[in-house]
Amino acid sequence: MTSYVTKNGNSYWPSKAMKKIAWINNKSIYKEAAKNPIKFWGKLAKEGIHWEEEWSPKNTYVEKLPYFEWFKGGKLNFSVNALDRHLGQPNKPAIIFVPEDPKEPPTILTYSELHQRVCKFANALKRMGVKKGDAVSIYLPLIPEAAIAMLACTRIGAIHSVVFSAFAPDALRARIQDCDARVLITSDGYYRRGKKENLLNKAKKAIKKTKIKDVIVVPRINKNKNYWGKFKRFDDVSYGRSSHFPPEMMNAEDPMFILYTSGTTGKPKGIIHDTGGYAVQTYWTTKLVFDLHKEDIMWCTADIGWITGHTYAVYGPLLNGGTTLIYEGTPDFPKPDRWWDIINKYKVNIFYTAPTAIRMFMRLGDKWPNKHKMDSLRVLATVGEPIDEHAWKWYFNKIGKGRCPIIDTWWQTETGGTLINVLPGIGPFVPTIAGLSFPGTKHSILDKGGKKAPQGFLVQNSPFAPGMLHGVWKNHKKYKETYWKTYNKQYDTSDGAILKNNLIRVTGRTDDVMKVSGHRLSTAELEDALNKSKFVNESAVVPIPDNLRGQVPVAFIVLEKGKPSEELEKRIKKHVDNTLGPTARPAKVYFVNDLPKTRSGKIMRRILKNILANEEPAGLSTLVNPECVQPIKEMVKERKK
Ligand code: PRX
Repeated sequence: MTSYVTKNGNSYWPSKAMKKIAWINNKSIYKEAAKNPIKFWGKLAKEGIHWEEEWSPKNTYVEKLPYFEWFKGGKLNFSVNALDRHLGQPNKPAIIFVPEDPKEPPTILTYSELHQRVCKFANALKRMGVKKGDAVSIYLPLIPEAAIAMLACTRIGAIHSVVFSAFAPDALRARIQDCDARVLITSDGYYRRGKKENLLNKAKKAIKKTKIKDVIVVPRINKNKNYWGKFKRFDDVSYGRSSHFPPEMMNAEDPMFILYTSGTTGKPKGIIHDTGGYAVQTYWTTKLVFDLHKEDIMWCTADIGWITGHTYAVYGPLLNGGTTLIYEGTPDFPKPDRWWDIINKYKVNIFYTAPTAIRMFMRLGDKWPNKHKMDSLRVLATVGEPIDEHAWKWYFNKIGKGRCPIIDTWWQTETGGTLINVLPGIGPFVPTIAGLSFPGTKHSILDKGGKKAPQGFLVQNSPFAPGMLHGVWKNHKKYKETYWKTYNKQYDTSDGAILKNNLIRVTGRTDDVMKVSGHRLSTAELEDALNKSKFVNESAVVPIPDNLRGQVPVAFIVLEKGKPSEELEKRIKKHVDNTLGPTARPAKVYFVNDLPKTRSGKIMRRILKNILANEEPAGLSTLVNPECVQPIKEMVKERKK
């Protein structure tokens, strides 16, 4: 069996076989790109993307911080790049959809079929009045219609806003209201562990007090149900529509989508990605980082509701003319080897997942992956949080069978695509190390004073990557303050990092953002949700490490009414499920009489963190109410027994 890695000391390097296949096997690309990053990206843009009109060379990169634009004046349509230019291979599978029920056959959409369905649906949206620049909300599980809807928006030039299907109605409503969407695309439900989950009921609750006038429903669960009034079936609206749709030509810097993500306040931010820069970065990072070739099948396990699902489960493989596999269901259903069975059965070549999933499978035991050869795999990758050495090794040995490189990719919703990682044909592949900035981009590690340091805060330097966010929806102030305030003219990632042998190791967030099972959640957002409960007077949320989920939130609550009890803890957790969704549910709730606060009224979460970590809390002298600390300590100690 071909091995794509060789061992040298504690690290792995690409083998001859990998070097032979890989698009990039020579380090000189880094030097060439660094010499003139703008010229480098200009060349990549022309090589990788079809432009209807090109930009003038002086406009390849225009920087007026806090904004910057790539390929200004260039015109393109994203869906033409993802679909039309692959119609020379019309029968090539574009999407393989694997339903949760192993008995339900997969759906395979060829490029030609996908193109037709996208055009028909774009025509349907147009008939409903959707036009260039309008926002469309998408609340769908991981089914092909999600990709069709997104691509149809890009055909029209409408801005899609995909909302994670496990989010609760309140969370969806806030996102619909913020972008003023008039059309919502959803489904009647989806399958989870063989059970039918109703999505439409949640969508119905969410659209109250919004401007939604049309709700398009994909009948995933009940194929025969009819809909009336503002509710319409996905296939009905497309039926009879033309399978041609002249693509709307977009400026490179026109917004393509919004994706809401957690920041340090209670309200999620609408991260804006524009069309041209995102297309260029997505095409090239997919090709070079995952080493995707046209004949490859790539499986990125991320849900469509996250940026990873956008960039690497849909757009990256399609821009490259490859095949993307998407799986609807729970990873370990009906048996703990479901994922490995899918890899084997469909001959997946590139597999991309999160450390939290790897840790879950580790717990389930080696016997499950041992049953499957998985010899089609060539590249394994991870994202979302730091991967510890133990999980890295398990992934390498049990899934890759010691043959495949592991590419640890660091990036964010804001960066649009991976920006720090090693390349498969170059290496090295070292546990816990993400690696080097993608050619043509640059990151530095700074100390608190903004000076370069071997350990500290991770920033990105100019010229900023083409796929970077293009602002925060309707909130210039937030954009400026979140990313550009702290480090002069450098993008603040809010991550900590260490430089080790010139390679970057990302250690995690330095702000109040948690990563729960790889999902991004802010302490403020959860506190905001808790404070909306009639029982809660005040709350403080802190993350604690968790072997499986990376981090989990713990809530400290001062009650407004009711008495501390298990029952009330359950009710409060349920309230979180209903307002934010189950991912945000606190692992534990402590009912306290008071929260440690400074004289200015700021809650000192650090003290609560110390108590949970069994450390002596520091800085009590700054508190206005130091007497509240001891009872909290005792309570935590008691619960740990
Ligand atoms: O803390 C970093 C962590 O995930 C954050 C971004 O989260 P989100 O916007 O949800 O995007 C996740 C998928 C791109 C980062 O600020 N993170 C992401 N990848 C890594 C990581 N931390 C360490 N290593 C990584 N490979």
